[in-house]
Amino acid sequence: MSGHGDPVPMTSRRAGALRGIAEVPGDKSISHRALILGAMAVGETRITGLLEGQDVLDTARAMRAFGAGVEQHGPGEWSVFGVGVGGFAEPDQVIDCGNSGTGVRLIMGAMATSPIVATFTGDASLNGRPMARVTDPLALFGTQVMGRSGGRLPMTLTGAAEPVPVRYTVPVPSAQVKSAVLLAGLNAPGQTVVIEAEATRDHTERMLAGFGADIATEMTGEGRVITLTGQPELRPQAIDVPRDPSSAAFPVCAALLCEGSDVLVPGIGLNPTRAGLYETLRDMGADLTYENMREEGGEPVADLRARYSPDMTGIEVPPERAASMIDEYPILSVVAAFAEGRTMMRGVRELRVKESDRIAAMATGLRANGVTVEDGPDWWAVTGMGPGGVPGGGMTASHLDHRIAMSFLCLGMAAKKAVRVDDAGPIATSFPIFETLMAGLGARIERSNR
Ligand code: S3P
Repeated sequence: MSGHGDPVPMTSRRAGALRGIAEVPGDKSISHRALILGAMAVGETRITGLLEGQDVLDTARAMRAFGAGVEQHGPGEWSVFGVGVGGFAEPDQVIDCGNSGTGVRLIMGAMATSPIVATFTGDASLNGRPMARVTDPLALFGTQVMGRSGGRLPMTLTGAAEPVPVRYTVPVPSAQVKSAVLLAGLNAPGQTVVIEAEATRDHTERMLAGFGADIATEMTGEGRVITLTGQPELRPQAIDVPRDPSSAAFPVCAALLCEGSDVLVPGIGLNPTRAGLYETLRDMGADLTYENMREEGGEPVADLRARYSPDMTGIEVPPERAASMIDEYPILSVVAAFAEGRTMMRGVRELRVKESDRIAAMATGLRANGVTVEDGPDWWAVTGMGPGGVPGGGMTASHLDHRIAMSFLCLGMAAKKAVRVDDAGPIATSFPIFETLMAGLGARIERSNR
């Protein structure tokens, strides 16, 4: 569980150049899916490079509660002994997914077509987030749902005893919704079809194919049409989780902003459905190169090299790129604050329903540090103050959101005065080694409120 402990205030201040090699942890999206699909296969799935952040540990605990064997052998090395599609047992306790929207939504999908009952809850952030986007399509399979008003957790799902396959057009760009429907479709007879107008991260599709499911994706006038044949026997896999491009964003962006920096971030997954931030940074004039491009486990991978970039300019971020960088807008807004000119970010309504309302959280904190931010329901714009030009000196609130906390700590590394974060505890959900990794590069982050 996360967000239940005492607040962990942190302060970050300018320390000059960041230099060295930043080995960021495993990809959070792929780590959740490795555990869940491993639990739905028959036999032992071996995982290396698993992210051991709190979100993923909560999913591991949930898979045990549904009857799978989950064992850790060493750092990042895990085995999952799966019970097969439709083999989940009824948990005898409430499933607490902590801070993780991905965890709870994917697990709901995975159990929705088995004749068992499960109750889900989370921390204050997760219990405020919309779940109807997942439970509405799950109800089409025959799943019964009872929860709080507004489709919020805690919530109890009764899985469909005789599920029917579903054809569903995802109404918001969301890989979690798409994935929940596909995982539910695994135990429905016949073909489940999911249609998405905008391409979102495709790890579930790629991994389902790897586990031996019959799944095909076709581009049509409606968008991406994904067809899954239900009730396969999934074959256990050996999964080497690539490093997380969303975590890599923090050392990369901090290096672009701190004078004299030169940082190498090796082995980053650059799946096109995830790499939008890096294209955007290059469009802004960042000195960011992809070295040693290769393919690992069916995913494009590169070593990212980021150097201090005093000549970045604000741009209009293409809205069609939003899904491929949705988790990176908070740190992009920090980079934009140090560029010349205005950066406009449109088509980002989804940012309002993440671990926090990320537009509101970033706009408030940036303003507290002297940056001009304008915002509307589905857009926001940051007026850059040039390299080294951000005053800083402000207190910011993380709102139980790891990416907000890390973004403001990066702001403090390049601002004129130190930047304080009220609670950096949530960073442990996705990037537990953030503090030591950044300190190793030369950053100055202190556990204090001054
Ligand atoms: C994720 C999908 C995205 C993303 C989240 C991880 C996933 O959420 O923000 O961090 O692993 O499927 P949405 O599906 O809500 O866009």
